[in-house]
Amino acid sequence: MKLLKLIFILILFIDLKVYADKNDQLLTQGKALYNQHCVMCHGASGAGDGPVGSNLSKKIPPFKKYSDKQIIDILNGGKRDVMPDYRTTLTAEQKEAIAKYINSL
Ligand code: HEC
Repeated sequence: MKLLKLIFILILFIDLKVYADKNDQLLTQGKALYNQHCVMCHGASGAGDGPVGSNLSKKIPPFKKYSDKQIIDILNGGKRDVMPDYRTTLTAEQKEAIAKYINSL
């Protein structure tokens, strides 16, 4: 019985580790994609102060609080004629990674 408990705890531990690794991977991927596609407008911290963003006539406000799903919807739709839509240029997984990264900023 003791052994069974031990095995159970061990499996739980491994599961959590796998989950954490997967999450780390998504964040790393999200950061790379953000730096490639978004940072020039939205800035490194999401304050809207990237080199392109700070030269727009109408300033980009800092990110509001959105769920991952809402960010993905925004990415599929684009914004204010300035921000392109990423419906086909980013895969669903890439968009999820970026959303997770933004929510970790
Ligand atoms: C060419 C500049 C540009 C690029 C590149 C760009 N955006 Fe934007 N983004 C904007 C503008 C402009 C808005 C509209 C801000 C407003 O509502 O006034 C916006 C709005 C947003 C919003 C909604 C902000 C809010 O709080 O309402 C999100 C989320 C967002 N962008 C994410 C991204 C992500 C993620 C990327 C990269 C995949 C990206 N943007 C690339 C210019 C850009």
